[in-house]
Amino acid sequence: MMEDLSLHILDIAENAIAAGATRVLIAVNENGRRDLLAFRVTDNGRGMSRQEKERALDPFFTTKRKRTGLGLPLLAQTAEVCGGRVVLESALKEGTRVTARFRLAHIDRPPLTKMTETMMMLFFGHPEVEFRYRHTRNGSRFSYLRPALAGRAAASAEIATLRDSLRAGLKRIGVS
Ligand SMILES: Nc1ncnc2c1ncn2[C@@H]1O[C@H](COP(=O)(O)OP(=O)(O)OP(=O)(O)O)[C@@H](O)[C@H]1O
Ligand SMILES: [Mg+2]
Repeated sequence: MMEDLSLHILDIAENAIAAGATRVLIAVNENGRRDLLAFRVTDNGRGMSRQEKERALDPFFTTKRKRTGLGLPLLAQTAEVCGGRVVLESALKEGTRVTARFRLAHIDRPPLTKMTETMMMLFFGHPEVEFRYRHTRNGSRFSYLRPALAGRAAASAEIATLRDSLRAGLKRIGVS
């Protein structure tokens, strides 16, 4: 089990980018009243065929060389242990949506943590991708749009500003 859910979010977003996505939406929802923690990654990548989608949750299924094919199965296992599940929706040439749900208060639920670092990794690892990040916590919402940078690398001043905006926005809605 990965001890941090933000690592799973990173992994699922990396799948989206490996599938050629140019736009990725990451939505996180924490709701205490519903005892729910859910995240959803939606991409406009190449999508999966029905067979590929059916096999994607099998351990060791991969279409990539030098990969283990454990990203999705590990996430599904963690969700199931925590009273939730993973749902895949995908259409070829349109894109994919991965939704993972967990019982928020489940004793074995890994913490989310490190969302700022996760988003920073994605933003700077993939300047050519447009990212939308939406984080809702008990009804309060933080949204961030990082447009595609069209080949231009970010300057270090921008990196600091970006990190500060993410931290401040998440703090405002009560995410650590
Ligand atoms: N967003 C996506 N769009 C298209 N195909 C996907 C997407 N996510 C997963 N897949 C398909 O499902 C397979 C399994 O994904 P999974 O994350 O489990 O393993 P992997 O990425 O191949 O390897 P690992 O994550 O262990 O490095 C991928 O190889 C790919 O064929
Ligand atoms: Mg993967």
